[in-house]
Amino acid sequence: MAKMNDSLVLQVSDVQAEARDVLLVELRDPQGAPLPAFEPGAHLEISLPNGMVRHYSITNDSRERERYVVGVGRAPNGRGGSTFVHQALRRGITLNTSAPRNNFRLRTDARSYLFVAGGIGITPIMTMIQWCIANQRHWRLVYAVRSPQRAAFYEALSAHGKSVRFHFDSQCGREGLNVRQMLTDVQDGEHIYCCGPNGLMEAIRTHAGHLPAENLHFEYFAAPMPVADVADSAGAFDIDLRKSGRSFHVPPDKSILDVLDAHGISVPSSCREGLCRTCETAVFEGEVEHLDYALSQEERDAGRSMIICVSRARSARLVLDL
Ligand code: FES
Repeated sequence: MAKMNDSLVLQVSDVQAEARDVLLVELRDPQGAPLPAFEPGAHLEISLPNGMVRHYSITNDSRERERYVVGVGRAPNGRGGSTFVHQALRRGITLNTSAPRNNFRLRTDARSYLFVAGGIGITPIMTMIQWCIANQRHWRLVYAVRSPQRAAFYEALSAHGKSVRFHFDSQCGREGLNVRQMLTDVQDGEHIYCCGPNGLMEAIRTHAGHLPAENLHFEYFAAPMPVADVADSAGAFDIDLRKSGRSFHVPPDKSILDVLDAHGISVPSSCREGLCRTCETAVFEGEVEHLDYALSQEERDAGRSMIICVSRARSARLVLDL
């Protein structure tokens, strides 16, 4: 298999319109070799030929080893990645990608699952639903999308009857999805997996106060709060790097990652918005102020690692595994 370190070289083997402004891009090994396994909720980091690096969720059945299918929604106000995919990505193009990564892992021990998808957020949820069906687990889906024409996998999902509830903005006037009502009948042991626009995610966080935090799982497309605002919300602190023995001051207007960059210390990073988890770093001492959208509540409570592109310190000093 064409492979560079932990990355892959894959070929676009098919591009299909799945719904209005939604494309499915199929990727395979150029020689037809089996691909690294992935789990429901995984995504690929893809380097596009226009120089942009984007993260797209894998949407096909996780038992398939010969292909990855990613879903790409056209984002008219995005930064250009989705527009490039929709206008210029064609069968036969070769792409550098990461191996599958997963920040939205499905807990396999939940009693049941409530999936909530908004728009293109359906893509990681589809692999989860396929896993539930294959493993005979109880699941249900609430899928909010502007219209049936824009609903990816509409026909396939419609076949599941009462397990799937669509909410089409075009048919509900100005009335949005009633999240509070949706969360009233969540069962004991039911885990909620949500992927969609930030407004939907924040509405669930707001109305899910009666549910255990460890039962809530989110995958963000974009940071809900601009990174600059996050940085402004915190004060200065110091970091000690245990491996290199160096220490630095982190001022309020800089992230730990910025400070390390400025001193020539290279840490892998990608989104720099607290989303992708690439910059996750182990913490030995100090109290972290977690400002990311990647770690689960359990991981935050454990305090063993932090996302250094956005998260900061509550204590005066942090000791990091760098
Ligand atoms: S670089 Fe993406 S989470 Fe830090």
